Amino acid sequence: MTVNGQPVDGLVEPRTLLVHFLRETAGLTGTHIGCETSHCGACTIDLDGQSVKSCTVFAVQAEGAQVLTIEGIANPDGTLHALQEGFRELHGLQCGFCTPGMIVRAYRLLHGNPNPTEAEIRMGISGNLCRCTGYQNIVSAIQYAAAKLRGDAMQEAAQ
Ligand code: FES
Ligand code: FES
Repeated sequence: MTVNGQPVDGLVEPRTLLVHFLRETAGLTGTHIGCETSHCGACTIDLDGQSVKSCTVFAVQAEGAQVLTIEGIANPDGTLHALQEGFRELHGLQCGFCTPGMIVRAYRLLHGNPNPTEAEIRMGISGNLCRCTGYQNIVSAIQYAAAKLRGDAMQEAAQ
């Protein structure tokens, strides 16, 4: 498979979950494991352009796929992606355990809907649980990123 633009291969047992492959074989531990039962969303990644919970996918099912994890979210020049910036600036995290999954999920959400309403953001991240923040600052961080990616923040700054 291709992970964050780099070819990754490995020999795994058929029962190996994709999240374990990413963390243990590819060494990409940014994708977290919370429940391993498809409830929490901590393991969310992007698989061929769709958000998936990588604890519900076998590694072998991702053979040949394009995978994006939190390690691949930053801009090509190494600067923070607007979502990462938003979470930092607007305190969209406390312990940070849910954050990689939240950001990768929000990345796909904004690709499909660059100007989401608050309700659409809340629905869009409804598969990702956060035990710390109460969600409000996560929603604000995603709104910040959406505005920045649309260029609104630059217009506001210019005004
Ligand atoms: S670890 Fe995959 S959904 Fe919780
Ligand atoms: S910041 Fe702690 S679970 Fe979300």
